[in-house]
Amino acid sequence: MGNMLVTGGAGFIGSNFTFYWLEHHPDDKIICLDKLTYAGNLSTLRLVMDKPNFKFVKGDICDRGRVFDLFQAERPEVVVNFAAETHVDRSIDGPNVFLQTNLIGTATLLDACREFGVERYHQVSTDEVYGDLPLDRPDLLFTESTPLHTSSPYSASKAGADLIVQAYHKTFGVPVTISRCSNNYGPYQFPEKLIPLMVLNALQDKPLPVYGEGVNVRDWLYVEDHCRAIDLILQRGRPGEVYNVGGHNERRNADVVKLICKELGKPEDLITYVTDRKGHDRRYAIDPEKIHSELGWLPETKFETGMKQTVQWYVENREWWKDIISGEYQQYYKTMYNNLVGA
Ligand code: NAD
Ligand code: DAU
Repeated sequence: MGNMLVTGGAGFIGSNFTFYWLEHHPDDKIICLDKLTYAGNLSTLRLVMDKPNFKFVKGDICDRGRVFDLFQAERPEVVVNFAAETHVDRSIDGPNVFLQTNLIGTATLLDACREFGVERYHQVSTDEVYGDLPLDRPDLLFTESTPLHTSSPYSASKAGADLIVQAYHKTFGVPVTISRCSNNYGPYQFPEKLIPLMVLNALQDKPLPVYGEGVNVRDWLYVEDHCRAIDLILQRGRPGEVYNVGGHNERRNADVVKLICKELGKPEDLITYVTDRKGHDRRYAIDPEKIHSELGWLPETKFETGMKQTVQWYVENREWWKDIISGEYQQYYKTMYNNLVGA
């Protein structure tokens, strides 16, 4: 692929993708553009920082001058956009930055792609753009033609970004692809999201705050399987197309948290059922038939195996998370969780 611009590479999936790509495509160069928001962590990238085919640039995807200068200097052939504000709860608390980064940032990158020409722009989107599914209809799954029907400011901003991406394809001929993936888990995920938050709380014998009755369902995928899906889409996906990514792995939140307790040998009575999330999506479930039949993608990591590895990773990488959960995170946790009452 030559030069690839990876935005948001200091975050969870972007960093895992960077490691994956440099391992499987050692002749390519990755330029990582990341603003290093609270969710971005330079220490995550320490494994690749000294590689001659990796370059880190601190910057905002909304900063037009910075983005255009970077395209001028590096002339990326491929752009993969992971950069986003990503946490639903934060979007309920303050939607503005979600609109700024997820909409304006995406449009700014597309303008640069148009100006300088790229072989491919790939938008990393989410299954949340489809809204949610009822709990009592296991036969219903999200396909690529399910209408966009969002619930939170986060998912609305991601759906808006998808529409902008498709508009730049249809109107200006930018060669784009979009992947809409279900919930990822794995190493380096910021501990505001369900799995790492529960692992870290359990390790510290703190309450495990499950929203509502814990019956909401998510469709979990190990992060490396997502990275491999993006690789296949970049190599063989058709420009203008959307590909759903998910592994038929639906789990109720309470069951995921119980599994974490089991893995860590902690008592389930740490689980505390608290006030539900506003507008809480009930169930996500992806139909991955298109990416399977067109590109041969299938998930490789079983949930039980991936969870074992992930929990173990957090146990062994205290250095990585202990700084993250000091400072701003403490304030976030107080604001977000102290007002939640037992349900
Ligand atoms: P994350 O929050 O862990 O990381 C986001 C990264 O983007 C951070 O490094 C942050 O510093 C950077 N960033 C934020 N605003 C920026 C800006 N204005 N300019 C440059 N960099 C900026 O997110 P993640 O979970 O790794 O998600 C990555 C992408 O995948 C997102 O687009 C998200 O919508 C999508 N996605 C995530 C999941 C999931 O389960 N985590 C599932 C499907 C899709
Ligand atoms: O589906 C893909 C999406 O998955 C991505 O687009 C988002 O960026 C990512 O954050 C994730 O969204 P969710 O809202 O599904 O993930 P989260 O980890 O925040 O929550 C997972 C489920 O767990 C959800 O039903 C809410 C619940 N939850 C979450 C937290 C943080 C709790 O019960 N307690 C909690 O403390």
